[in-house]
Amino acid sequence: MSSKADAGRVRNGLFRTKSIEQSIKDTEEPEHKLNKSLSALDLTVFGVGVVIGAGIFVTTGTVAKNYAGPAVALAFVVAGIVCALAALCYAEFASTVPVAGSAYTFAYASLGEFVAWIIGWDLVLELALGAATVSVGWAGYVQSLLDSWGIPLPTVLLGPSDGKFGFNIAAALLILVMTGVLVAGVKLSAHVTSLVVAVKVLVVLIIIAVGSFHIVGANYSPFIPPKQDVEGGSGVTATLLEAIFGYTPSAFGVMGIFTAAAIVFFAYIGFDVVATAAEETVDPAKDVPRGIIGSLAICTALYVAVSIVVTGMQKYSSLSADAPLADAFKAIDQPFWAGLINFGAIIGLVTVVMILLLGQGRVFFAMSRDGLLPKVFSEVHPKFRTPYRSTIILGIASAILAGFVSLEELSKLVNIGTLFAFVVVALGVIILRRTRPDLPRAFRAPWVPALPIASVAASVWLMLNLSVETWLRFLAWMVLGLVLYFVYGRTHSKLGRRNSA
Ligand code: ALA
Repeated sequence: MSSKADAGRVRNGLFRTKSIEQSIKDTEEPEHKLNKSLSALDLTVFGVGVVIGAGIFVTTGTVAKNYAGPAVALAFVVAGIVCALAALCYAEFASTVPVAGSAYTFAYASLGEFVAWIIGWDLVLELALGAATVSVGWAGYVQSLLDSWGIPLPTVLLGPSDGKFGFNIAAALLILVMTGVLVAGVKLSAHVTSLVVAVKVLVVLIIIAVGSFHIVGANYSPFIPPKQDVEGGSGVTATLLEAIFGYTPSAFGVMGIFTAAAIVFFAYIGFDVVATAAEETVDPAKDVPRGIIGSLAICTALYVAVSIVVTGMQKYSSLSADAPLADAFKAIDQPFWAGLINFGAIIGLVTVVMILLLGQGRVFFAMSRDGLLPKVFSEVHPKFRTPYRSTIILGIASAILAGFVSLEELSKLVNIGTLFAFVVVALGVIILRRTRPDLPRAFRAPWVPALPIASVAASVWLMLNLSVETWLRFLAWMVLGLVLYFVYGRTHSKLGRRNSA
C-alpha cells in the first residue's frame, strides 16, 4: 500500500484516531464544559468510595467457602497485583489525556475509533451493570435489616428468584435516588461521598481491630485446602482454562486461588473510574495518578486484612454467603458488632452505586460528544453543569436492570468486561509511547513495554479463569455493540465527518 493510501486509511478507516489536542480542545467548548473542582483527595475518596463495596462485604464468604478457603487472602493479593499493573497504565494514560471517558478516550487517542467504540461499549458492563449488581447486593442487606425489624417485604418485591418473576424494588429505588444526586452536581456528590466513605472505612477497620481478638489459629488449617473435583461442573460452568485444556473442573488447591481471584476481582472494580473524572479535576496531571494509586493501595491493604481476620474467626466452610462479615461476628456471639457491620454495609454500598453511575454517564457523555452516540447523552445542564439527560436516561435503564436481574452471574460479567478494558488500556500505553513520544506525561509508568505487557498477561489470565458461560454472554454483548457501531456510530462520528470534509 502506498503511503498516501496509508494516510487515507488512518484518516477515515476503522483506525482513525482522534488527536489528544483535539480531545482536550473539545472539553473547552462551552456547551460541553464540565466543572473543574476535584482535588487528588476528592479523587482518592471517590476511589475508595467505589472500590470498597459488595466485593468485600458479600463475595468474600462465598469465595472462601467454594474456591479458596483461608487462601482467599492470597486471591485478594493476586487480584490486587493485576489491578496495580493496570493502575499504573491507567495513571499514565489519564495524565496524558485528561478528558472525560476513561479507557474510551484513551483508546480513541491511541488505538483508533473502532477500538474506542468497543471499549466504550464494554465499559457499560463495568459501570451500568456494576451499579445494578451492587444495588442488588445493597437491597439484600436492606431486606435483612427489615426482616430483623419484623417488616419483611413481599417476595415479589425482592427481585427474581429461582426463575420466578420479581422486581427488586429497593435496588431500583436506590439507583433512582442516586441519579437525582448526580444530576444535582459533582461537588454535592463528593460531599455526600466523603461522609459515607468515612463510615465505610471505619466499619472495615472495626472488623479488623475487633475481629483480630477472636482469631482461632486452627481455622487457618489447612490454609490452602486440597484440590477437589467439582461434581457436574462441566460444560459452560467450567472455566475457559479448564475447557481449553480439558481439565476436570475443580475447586481449592493452588488453581482455586486463581479462580477465586477472578471473582474477588469484583472487589477492586472502580479504581479506574477515578480516571473518568479527569476532566473535572483541578490538576489532572498530578491528581489523577495519585487518586488512582492511592485508593488502590488503601483497598488492597484493607481487603487482605479483612479476609485474614474473617477466615480466622470462623471456619471457611461455615462462612455465610449473604453477609459473611456480619455473620462471622454473630457466630462468635457479638450481635452489637454484627449490627454495626450491617449498618456500615448498607451505608457503604450506596456510594459504590453512585460513583459507578457517575462513571457511566461520563463515558456516554464523551462518546456522544464525539458523535458516536446520539447528542442527548452530551447535553450539559445550564445550572448544574452536569450531563443531566445522559445521567437520567442511564439511571432509569440501570434501575430497570437492577429490578429484574440477580446478582450471581452479573458480577462475573462485570469482571470480564473490566478486565478486557484493562487489556486495551495497557496496549494503548505501549502504542501511544511509540506514536506520540512527544506528549507531556505528568506520570510515566515504569518499565514500558514490560509492565504493560505483564498487565495484559495478568488480565487475560484472570479472564481465562472465568466460566465459559460468562465468556459467551460477554461475546454476545460485544457483537451487539459491533452492530450498533456499524449502523450508527461509524456514520455519525464527528471525527469521520471532520476528516471527510
Ligand atoms: N468494587 C466494587 C464492589 O466491591 C464494585 O462493590
